Amino acid sequence: MNVIAVEPGSGEPTVLEKPVPEPAPGEALVRTLRVGVDGTDREVIEGRHGDVPDGDDHLVLGHEAVGVVEDANGTDLEEGTVVVPTVRRPLDGPTEHFERGQPDMAPAGEYVERGIVGAHGFMAEYFTSPAEYLVSIPEELAPLGFLVEPISISEKAIEHAYATRSAFDWRPESALVLGNGSLGLLTLAMFEEVLEYDRTYCLGRRDRPDPTIDIIENLGATYVDSRETPVSQVADAYEGMDVVYEATGYAKHAFETIDALAPNGVGALLGVPEDWTFEVDGGRLHRELVLQNKALVGSVNSHRGHFESAIETLAALPTWFTDDLVTGVYGLEEFERAFSLAEESTFADDDTTIKTAVEFTSI
Ligand code: NAP
Ligand code: BGC
Ligand code: ZN
Repeated sequence: MNVIAVEPGSGEPTVLEKPVPEPAPGEALVRTLRVGVDGTDREVIEGRHGDVPDGDDHLVLGHEAVGVVEDANGTDLEEGTVVVPTVRRPLDGPTEHFERGQPDMAPAGEYVERGIVGAHGFMAEYFTSPAEYLVSIPEELAPLGFLVEPISISEKAIEHAYATRSAFDWRPESALVLGNGSLGLLTLAMFEEVLEYDRTYCLGRRDRPDPTIDIIENLGATYVDSRETPVSQVADAYEGMDVVYEATGYAKHAFETIDALAPNGVGALLGVPEDWTFEVDGGRLHRELVLQNKALVGSVNSHRGHFESAIETLAALPTWFTDDLVTGVYGLEEFERAFSLAEESTFADDDTTIKTAVEFTSI
């Protein structure tokens, strides 16, 4: 079968041939339909995040998958069911977080992440997975099933952000999303369409016309250009925000978020930046957090409950939004386009790329 993999140092994905995997006891064999691409995949390809499996010279990419159970192999699954796999697996046997059903809370060293850290991903014609890590989804959501994993990331982050405010009667009305990439736009849609916030904002650094700014405004949100209004000045330019959701990976935003928050607000940090040393007024920010009851929470990964919420969220998102967000689904013969790697001259719509996926079986 064909797989899309990266060899460390190559800086680009390539197609390799591998045997169809055999499901072990407790595992099912899944025929892959589509696998989405996100900023993390680009970080893995560039060698800024993740790792190949021990003893291997390549990593099969892909952690945002949807597929069909091909061989249930004696598990509780039914052949033909559409499933989405979760990402984390135990490294050396289950630890307490896996046993409690919360692998997303496991510390580094206890887990691998399929397609990212130490385990092959789902960009393959077939993959196997323990049945307990496969979440079934309604058949009609199959074409967009690759959005379940990224939405689940925000389900978890928002759950944790709300949990930090659960000790008082908190009634959030405003949210600022930092980043107009695919994670940022999906999350903005959640604040608008599912949580129904009164005021939503999304920060980017692009000139108009730009398709992401069109999506932001069609959702009813306000576009904030970070070159004109840095995050540290958002509260003065607009208002303090009840929630800030950081999805840029730009490390200064973690600290500037404190200033962008309204009293009692909470910031959720999702980006995975590289090392970067810079100055901050730590005393002022510390004081601001304390005297204004503000909170910051980091959040990574997600698990079954978040996937189940994400399935409901996906079903609730308007069709125009997912149509505009998903700018391309590409077969194996043109998979480079899903990573925006093709020569710029070969297609004119390169700068309209937002969310893409590779298709392994046509739907
Ligand atoms: P992405 O497509 O690379 O999106 C990042 C967006 O942020 C881009 O649109 C970029 O704008 C914008 N941006 C970066 N720096 C900015 C700045 N200084 N001012 C304004 N806008 C800025 O990545 P993604 O897939 O949406 O993911 C976003 C981040 O979340 C990444 O760091 C990724 O690693 C992380 N992530 C974390 C988790 C988790 O579990 N914690 C899960 C998924 C992703 P341009 O395109 O104009 O450059
Ligand atoms: C994935 C998560 C993963 C995180 C860190 C994200 O892109 O969606 O499942 O935990 O990267 O590796
Ligand atoms: Zn991801």
